[in-house]
Amino acid sequence: MHTTVGIIGGGPAGLLLARLLHKAGIDSVVLESRARSYVEQRQRAGILEQATVDVLRSVGAGARMDREGLVHHGIELRFDGRAHRIDFPALTGGGSVMVYAQTEVVKDLIALQLAEGGPLLFHAQVHAVEGADTDRPTIRFAHEGREQSLTCDYVVGCDGFHGVARHAVPEVLRRTYERTYPYSWLGILADAAPAYGELIYAHSARGFALASMRSPTVSRLYLQVPNGTDPAEWPDARIWDELDARLDQPLVRGPITAKSVLPMRSSVTEPMRHGRVFLAGDAAHIVPPTGAKGLNLAAADVIVLAEAFAHLAATGSTQLLDTYSDTCLRRVWRAEHFSYFMTTTLHADPAQSTFDTRLQLSQLERITTSPHAAAELAENYVGLPLGPALRSGGHGTTARLRA
Ligand code: DHB
Repeated sequence: MHTTVGIIGGGPAGLLLARLLHKAGIDSVVLESRARSYVEQRQRAGILEQATVDVLRSVGAGARMDREGLVHHGIELRFDGRAHRIDFPALTGGGSVMVYAQTEVVKDLIALQLAEGGPLLFHAQVHAVEGADTDRPTIRFAHEGREQSLTCDYVVGCDGFHGVARHAVPEVLRRTYERTYPYSWLGILADAAPAYGELIYAHSARGFALASMRSPTVSRLYLQVPNGTDPAEWPDARIWDELDARLDQPLVRGPITAKSVLPMRSSVTEPMRHGRVFLAGDAAHIVPPTGAKGLNLAAADVIVLAEAFAHLAATGSTQLLDTYSDTCLRRVWRAEHFSYFMTTTLHADPAQSTFDTRLQLSQLERITTSPHAAAELAENYVGLPLGPALRSGGHGTTARLRA
């Protein structure tokens, strides 16, 4: 089997890349290790930046998002008995975000890919990527009980932090920058009306809490918990009581339909390319969830990459592929800083002193009193502009990519 671009991983990065390449007339094959039902049910964040919304519309995956998604023009910060709204349009010249769950994005992209795209194989277990620095990189995988090889012009690893693609960058050339945090999140989905029309990020002496939503009748709520927490330690009533205390507001309670613990980690692997193997999304970088940058960064990576492949197909030049890693890493490091900032400003580190707490409160106070400080948060939250890479390149013909 041969394809132009072999894509490892059928999460949002891999599926969106396949759609963008399809639009540009470039063929691809997507290999996903899990079942379709698993991928479609995996709970992830739910905030889309404008650029992510735009690219989903441009690949034809915007219809349900535009019907069911909720446009948000701000968030609320709560701390020290106070509440302060961050007004996105006023602070960013018209910016906003869309509340639409990553799981729904994935369902929409899978349906499109199966209806009118190249092959998308589920239960395809990739063992290895060989020949990254040859002109015929090969993906070895098992599917339906048979060992198979997919030769490619290029390979893109969208298979996450624990995937095999990262290992195609030789260890001597790979640099990983990491940070772990001394807390996790307990996340729940509940059939209960959201607390408030917008998201609430709460700093409290008891720890961080976040009130988000999935629809006018479904809430998505998070509590900071110690690392190693077993969700069984948190019966429903304890969760609601703790949310009420940290958010300083009694929530509407309803049946909890999902409960899980998420670790918090920051990580960047450089470079995001070796030879003809490229990394995108969580395969190259992880952000802690605070600020919901993970999916948006993955979308930004594949927008840049699809434009680089389209440029190669149209001109024969690898120039944009050659700058892919540097282009993406600038945005990655900005989002890493923002996610770290939101995380460390809002959470209670178990080792922190009262001095550290006063610094957090001073920073939050600054955001509420200075439009410049608030704009810095708002601009990062709604997403920084993508530049020319946002242009979607459609060429209409089947393109060959032998550079
Ligand atoms: C959600 C998750 C986040 O990490 C965040 O900052 C905002 C919202 C969510 O799942 O809805």
